[in-house]
Amino acid sequence: MQLQLTTWPEVETYLESSRGIIVPIGSTEQHGPTGLIGTDALTAEFIGRRLGEAMGVLVAPTISVGMAQHHMDFTGSITFRPSTLIMVVRDIVVSLARHGFDHFFFVNGHGGNIAPVSAAFSEIHAELAEAAAMRGPGANKMPAEVFCQLANWFDQPTVSKMRDEMYGDKEGAHATPSEVSVTWYAYPEQQRDAPLGDIAPIERAFQGATDYRRLYPDGRMGADPSLSTPEDGEKLVAAAVEDLRKTYQRFLQAGPT
Ligand code: NI
Repeated sequence: MQLQLTTWPEVETYLESSRGIIVPIGSTEQHGPTGLIGTDALTAEFIGRRLGEAMGVLVAPTISVGMAQHHMDFTGSITFRPSTLIMVVRDIVVSLARHGFDHFFFVNGHGGNIAPVSAAFSEIHAELAEAAAMRGPGANKMPAEVFCQLANWFDQPTVSKMRDEMYGDKEGAHATPSEVSVTWYAYPEQQRDAPLGDIAPIERAFQGATDYRRLYPDGRMGADPSLSTPEDGEKLVAAAVEDLRKTYQRFLQAGPT
């Protein structure tokens, strides 16, 4: 159930039985010569919506732009600075908390989001603690306490094992065959077949966008996305949804019962 395809009375009814919401978050950045620029947002959105359907949980609009400073030397990439992403996450959580949501489950498709989103969670906890301290009579539905979790679909336990079994060293760290496979399963008409050169190995941590491109001239980090198939994507999506279902169920235990 997508928030965008509901009405406000339907959301009120939903909140009578559940206060959890899934928020897909990704990035809009280059994914090598054959990977779609939307890969990280499309994978998180597709898996997040599947998870929402499987569990009857509401799914918020996807945060499609993330922290991708290091990809900005490649045409078409868009980035938030970390401080912007922190505020975007903060504003979405606080908006929804105001209506009574109190469990926010972020299904993430992009490694660069992990640090700023974690920082955003700390900002939210700090802010709500201050607000709770000042709360008086007539307070709205804002909960005194909220729970936020970032769950990377790509490093859930079964998914990690499958990525390793399917691709081994060729999985790499960016424009990976696993994430490209998921996009090709979700959008079969978007498969690409461009020639790929040698794989640039991962030797050291990159700095900014110029350094990233120096290290990884075609955008891939140690990955061979020519191994991608829609069939692999289907298996990875099924595993991600199953892993995330368990993660979400554990997450719902957080808080007073
Ligand atoms: Ni990616």
